Amino acid sequence: MTRRLLVIGIGAGAPGHLTLQAIEAINRAEVFFLLDKSEAAAELVAAREAILKAHRRAPWRVARLASPKRRAEAHIHGGARTPARETTYRADVADWHSARAALLAPLIEAELPEDGVGALLVWGDPALYDSTLRVLEAVRATLPLAIEVVPGISAVQALTTAHGLVLNEVGAKVVLTTGRRVLEDFSREGTTVVMLDDGTGLAALIAREAEVPPAGAAPLHIWWGAYLGMEGELLMSGPLAQVGPQILRQRAEAREKRGWIMDVWLVREPKF
Ligand SMILES: C[S@@+](CC[C@H](N)C(=O)[O-])C[C@H]1O[C@@H](n2cnc3c(N)ncnc32)[C@H](O)[C@@H]1O
Repeated sequence: MTRRLLVIGIGAGAPGHLTLQAIEAINRAEVFFLLDKSEAAAELVAAREAILKAHRRAPWRVARLASPKRRAEAHIHGGARTPARETTYRADVADWHSARAALLAPLIEAELPEDGVGALLVWGDPALYDSTLRVLEAVRATLPLAIEVVPGISAVQALTTAHGLVLNEVGAKVVLTTGRRVLEDFSREGTTVVMLDDGTGLAALIAREAEVPPAGAAPLHIWWGAYLGMEGELLMSGPLAQVGPQILRQRAEAREKRGWIMDVWLVREPKF
């Protein structure tokens, strides 16, 4: 007998993002493990509870995990990325995953019978910039578990659909990266999508494009979205040089007002 855990992608914030497969999985689980961490936690936990309320047909049980805090995140954003900083960053993330696994394993063991089915509701899609599957891999080192993954609508899909965009230009590549890596990963040969940016990645790209506009290259366009699918959704798009600074201002204001922000953006040379 093995405990079974369903890792359910719940989409990027809109209740309608849930797939039929996700709803079926929600109704198969007997306990839901909730582990959230950021300043957005309260609203994101509330969003998960609203999903359970809307789609769960029987009563449910929740087991909460107070997630360990990451060490100082100052090195994650801002400043030049050096090999030493990169090594520290990776070590911090690995430590944090182990710390989460060390808390989660006994919780699963205590809350889930040996033949039981539990679930974790994961923001967006579990395969994209989410640590749940890695943490569960670490849990499996001490506790046998069968893991089933249910896909979800990611923030990338929420962004492209909100703007009515095709993610890729015809036959061209798509680079998917984070704010801290955007300067080195950005590619003019296709579309660059940026997640997990605190605004410094966008500011740095705007500054570099203004300083050294590549000879013969068309100006870049940006498509940006925050709180996609949620109340207060924000959308902006246009030439990076003009709209980029407006986005940074709008982003800072929204973050200040709401206390947190989640945003995603993509840039490319538009082929109109
Ligand atoms: C930890 S990652 C999780 C990504 C998630 N697994 C997915 O598939 O979209 C969090 C990042 O996703 C993006 N994100 C998630 N939900 C979003 C939303 N509703 N609106 C805008 N960006 C969102 C932001 O870039 C945020 O920094």
